[in-house]
Amino acid sequence: MIRLTDINKRFHETTPNEVHLIKGLNLQIKKGDFITIIGSNGAGKTTLFNLISGNLLPSSGSIFINQREVTNDPEYKRANTIGRIFQDPLLGTASGMTLEDNMMITFKKGFKWLSISLGKKMREFFKTELIRLDMGLESRMKENVCMLSGGQRQALTLLMTVLSNPKILLLDEHTAALDPRNAAIVMYLTQKFIQDHSLTTLMITHNMKHAIEFGNRLLMMDSGEIIIDIEGDEKKKLTPGKLVEMFSEIRKKEFENDEVLLTR
Ligand SMILES: Nc1ncnc2c1ncn2[C@@H]1O[C@H](COP(=O)(O)OP(=O)(O)OP(=O)(O)O)[C@@H](O)[C@H]1O
Ligand SMILES: [Mg+2]
Repeated sequence: MIRLTDINKRFHETTPNEVHLIKGLNLQIKKGDFITIIGSNGAGKTTLFNLISGNLLPSSGSIFINQREVTNDPEYKRANTIGRIFQDPLLGTASGMTLEDNMMITFKKGFKWLSISLGKKMREFFKTELIRLDMGLESRMKENVCMLSGGQRQALTLLMTVLSNPKILLLDEHTAALDPRNAAIVMYLTQKFIQDHSLTTLMITHNMKHAIEFGNRLLMMDSGEIIIDIEGDEKKKLTPGKLVEMFSEIRKKEFENDEVLLTR
C-alpha cells in the first residue's frame, strides 16, 4: 500500500545549518495495517507524515502509494487518497461554518464526480452518520462548529475525514489535546472507523498505552530512524517499561520525551 525506499530528508541543504533529519528510512506498509508510532521529541515522526502526504519532498529515495510512484507528486495529487488529522481540534473544521456545511465540503472532496448539493437526502445521510458518534450532534447540524467542545470537534473531524473517502489515514497525536475521557471516546471512534472503512492507518501518539493497545504494528523512531518495529503477538506482549528499556539498550541513552514517559 505504501512503500518508502531509502528516504533521506535534509533541511537547509548546502548551507552551514544543514540538518540530516530522515536517514535512509525504509518502510513497507500493507493494506489494512494499523501502525502506531512513538518516539523521542524531534525524532522525525511528523516529518515522516509530511513526506507521505507530499507536504515535503524527500532529498533522495522513493515513495510508492498503491504501486504508483508519487515521490515528486505535490500534496494535492495525493490528497484524494490520504486523510490527515492533527493534534489541534481547531484545524480540521471551519469554525464559522455550520456542521452540515463543513460535512458537505469534505464529502464533496471525496466524491468529486458526483453532482450533489445539500438537500433533504444529504441532510438525512449526515444525520445518520452523526448519530454514529453518539454525541448528540445530529440535532446541532445548523450550529456553527465553534460551538462544539474540543472532543466533539475532533470526533467530527474524524467523521468528516472518513466521509471524504480516503484509503490512508494519518493521525498525528490527534487525541493529545483532549482530556482522558474525550481521548478515549475519540480513540474508540477511530478504531471503529478504521475497521468499518478498511483504512490503512498510521497513528503517531505520545501515549505508550495507546501505542501498544491499538493497531497491529508499532514503530519507534529516534533521530530520523526507525529503531523498533514490532508486530503481531510480540506487540501484544509489550509494556511501556519494556519499550523504554529497549530504547536504552539500542541507543545507549535515556529516552527523551516527557509526554511519552508520563503515560507509562
Ligand atoms: N520544514 C522544516 N525545516 C527545517 N527544519 C524542520 C522542518 N520540519 C521539521 N524540522 C525539524 O526536524 C526535526 C523533527 O521534527 P518533527 O516535527 O518531524 O519531529 P516529531 O518527531 O514529530 O517531534 P514531536 O514529538 O515533538 O512532535 C525538528 O528538529 C524540526 O525542527
Ligand atoms: Mg510531531
